[in-house]
Amino acid sequence: DWTMAAFRERAIAAVRAQVGSGKVICGLSGGVDSSVVAVLLHEAIGDQLQCVFVDHGLLRLGEAEQVVTLFRDHYNIPLVHADASEQFLTALAGVTDPEKKRKTIGALFIDVFEKEAKKIGGAAFLAQGTLYPDVIESVSFTGGPSVTIKSHHNVGGLPERMHMKLVEPLRELFKDEVRVLGRELGLPPDLVNRHPFPGPGLAIRIPGDITREKLDLLRKVDAVYLDEIRKAGLYDEIWQAFAVLLPVRTVGVMGDGRTYDQACALRAVTSTDGMTADYYPFPHDFLGRVAARIINEVRGINRVTYDITSKPPGTIEWE
Ligand code: XMP
Repeated sequence: DWTMAAFRERAIAAVRAQVGSGKVICGLSGGVDSSVVAVLLHEAIGDQLQCVFVDHGLLRLGEAEQVVTLFRDHYNIPLVHADASEQFLTALAGVTDPEKKRKTIGALFIDVFEKEAKKIGGAAFLAQGTLYPDVIESVSFTGGPSVTIKSHHNVGGLPERMHMKLVEPLRELFKDEVRVLGRELGLPPDLVNRHPFPGPGLAIRIPGDITREKLDLLRKVDAVYLDEIRKAGLYDEIWQAFAVLLPVRTVGVMGDGRTYDQACALRAVTSTDGMTADYYPFPHDFLGRVAARIINEVRGINRVTYDITSKPPGTIEWE
């Protein structure tokens, strides 16, 4: 008889059996997966757990503060907040290729994480929120050439280098099951229902090179879009919704003058596991309202488009 309550008990017992009295370091990203891992582990092994939040500066508006407040202040989970945005932006300067962005971010992420782990005295175990789809998407298509589809930076690399053993309590679960587990563990609904967010963050939502200015612009657009989605009561019907900053300037009119500003794309999809997805059929009046608000409130954007590509043939992210 498979219930999430039973899974929780088994997972806790398995973690205790695996780690004994060893220390575990958990990388926290603010997403559902790593949050569920952290709370599950804290329940299993208490303060043998130490969380490290590598803040790459590629998060959305207010996200870093939310992570710190929730885990440090609310859950009392030992947490190191490593603000490394400067380092990441420097490493990403001039990088435009999507896979190169991922590799750059992944490698630096590991570096920063490793340094922080050493500072807190190291640990025998590393906890990760790897899910079942991460496991299979990192392998290969059957019948085709053996290719890694996208180098998810939460899979592989680090543990070997640091001689740490992996603790991956969510390895058998799909995203919707992780949410059920999160509810079972009593995590705040806001967090449990949060849309997935990619490890490389906003870097893969800015085609072309990444600058602080572009990141700030995208954060503002994204915040307005998500605010309208929440107000319309649509957030929980959608798997992921986000804005993409396009590397295109277009002509517009404002008052008596012409503008020559950037364009953005909005994306929203439904999905059950991220492997396939359909674009979300927003009512046109909703789209019109969002576009008007973005152009009014975000200086530097004068055109808004809506992406109606499903997966396949598109991917969910633009890069
Ligand atoms: P795609 O764009 O491949 O995305 O359809 C499928 C799901 O994976 C997320 N995604 C990533 N997650 N590192 C991550 O941790 C990545 O490099 C990455 N690329 C895509 C994407 O947001 C979606 O949920």
